[in-house]
Amino acid sequence: MSYEVKHKKLLKWVDEIAALCTPDKIHWCDGSQEEYDALCNLLVESGTFKKLNQEKRPNSYLALSDPSDVARVEDRTFICSRSKDDAGPTNNWMDPVEMKGILNKLFTGSMKGRTMYVIPFSMGPLGSNIAKIGVEISDSPYVAVNMKIMTRMGKKVTDILGEDGEFVPCLHSVGAPIQPGQKDATWPCNKTKYIVHFPEERSIWSFGSGYGGNALLGKKCLALRIASKIALDEGWLAEHMLILGVESPTGEKTYVSAAFPSACGKTNFAMLIPPAPFQKQGWKVTTIGDDIAWLKPSPDGKVHAINPENGYFGVAPGTNVKTNPNAMASCAKNTIFTNVALTEDGDVWWEGMTDEPPAKLTDWQGNEWTPGCGRPAANPNARFTSPAHQAPSIDPDWENPKGVPISAFIFGGRRKNTVPLVYQSFNWNFGVYLASTQGSETTAAAVGATGNVRRDPFAMLPFCGYNMADYFTHWLNFGHTVPKPPLIFSVNWFLKNEDGKFLWPGYGENMRVLKWVVDRVNDRGGAVESPLGWMPSYEDIEMEGLDISRDQFNKLMTIDINDWKTELLLHEELFIKLYGRLPKEFENMRNLIFATLWRSPKQWQPI
Ligand code: OXD
Ligand code: MN
Repeated sequence: MSYEVKHKKLLKWVDEIAALCTPDKIHWCDGSQEEYDALCNLLVESGTFKKLNQEKRPNSYLALSDPSDVARVEDRTFICSRSKDDAGPTNNWMDPVEMKGILNKLFTGSMKGRTMYVIPFSMGPLGSNIAKIGVEISDSPYVAVNMKIMTRMGKKVTDILGEDGEFVPCLHSVGAPIQPGQKDATWPCNKTKYIVHFPEERSIWSFGSGYGGNALLGKKCLALRIASKIALDEGWLAEHMLILGVESPTGEKTYVSAAFPSACGKTNFAMLIPPAPFQKQGWKVTTIGDDIAWLKPSPDGKVHAINPENGYFGVAPGTNVKTNPNAMASCAKNTIFTNVALTEDGDVWWEGMTDEPPAKLTDWQGNEWTPGCGRPAANPNARFTSPAHQAPSIDPDWENPKGVPISAFIFGGRRKNTVPLVYQSFNWNFGVYLASTQGSETTAAAVGATGNVRRDPFAMLPFCGYNMADYFTHWLNFGHTVPKPPLIFSVNWFLKNEDGKFLWPGYGENMRVLKWVVDRVNDRGGAVESPLGWMPSYEDIEMEGLDISRDQFNKLMTIDINDWKTELLLHEELFIKLYGRLPKEFENMRNLIFATLWRSPKQWQPI
């Protein structure tokens, strides 16, 4: 061991896992730059990494995964609470004792021929009383270097743990032992995959995948699934939300937190650059986090939020200097790219990065690629792992251990129809209802068919570590225990016309909607009452510099009563699934919307 660890329980756990997994070596990660560089060199030597052109992408690497290991595997993700009902019908469940039996077998000898990395990490600023400590044991050096970017990692964390600090044990193996004389794969993994959470024990076991949320266990597994259960027990919220700050021309600062399902432009929204007329007036948007928020009631009566992460694991395709210059700057150096394409001069490329694709590339599977060859050059879920502080938009308070006060929650999905551009919920309970029934078309972030609408309550469907109906009740209660709860809004950037063209330009122009949200929470935004909540009329949205007519705007804001009747029937589907523990208020709220829609014109618009 390269440094002293005095934590008996941690040392004992590491010994036990070493005895179970029988690695050749144990490496305690110290989190230093030297260690990071050495591990990256090792990954280059083993063929997992390619070092990119040092002039074009300083200190950056490209990894190409096994084609079968490119996304989170939701059907292999389990919440193993003692009782099946505590996991609820939206999670896969297995009895914890039975699951431990399966896992113990799988992990037996699973690290043979490999080095076992012990990776102590903090989710949240080091030493903050909101932060939680985890220790990941992994046989993947790719995981170790990604964890260095995505978390605060290394010796400083075991120093904080001291002799008896609390930590979440996170065990990970790619499940590919190396037999003597066998050549290792460049992306070792196993066909059998298990991503398992024991919420009462607060532990994580992940087997068979080396990719993203399946393997970097601080992110979805600890900071969402396990943390959501801790938050339930302790009276706070662990959410799949970005956090951003809006600074007005007078210097007024408003923070909002927003939940969108995976690959719906969360990173773009978190790093939004206001359009020219807003910039001229002095509006600014700053980034606290792009994926996860931990929110706690604060003594000032407000809800305060921190970003538990230290980096971005952003979706690369579609990102460019126009759609997200901040993300492009974030991944300009010190970045690990996974499953993007390689240019002839040793740089990276992905669909949408430039208008014209390069004439020749090596694609994400290592094959030669030319424009028009009929295959995507980058995997649609290709990612960049880059340090959070490299975003030029990073907020000066992003590491403030007290967090930032949140004035609004925004919920969004990817819907080509039905859900209008923006509306504000009438009250807290109704907002919880709208977030609970949120639907979205599925994307490439998870394995499975894309483009189907699925209910994704709070964008937490794949990430809630307990019964979703209990989660709704927890949200209802939470709002009533906070003296000044945030206002709740719904947005939809993805409406399309009959020809399949987007009706709203999105990206930086979303500032216009964001400004209305900020105006509302600061008691100055105009609104009209709709069947679903408060809505801006054309005059309430700043349209300078954007060519959207009143008619076009009204189209974006239309509530089609027939669509909504269908939508409410779909809510019923979710409710039936969760019925046993569903908050009783939900049935009343659904009836209330039905009754209101019944009396509304067929196409409601905010004229
Ligand atoms: C992510 C996801 O990687 O939500 O953030 O899938
Ligand atoms: Mn996410």
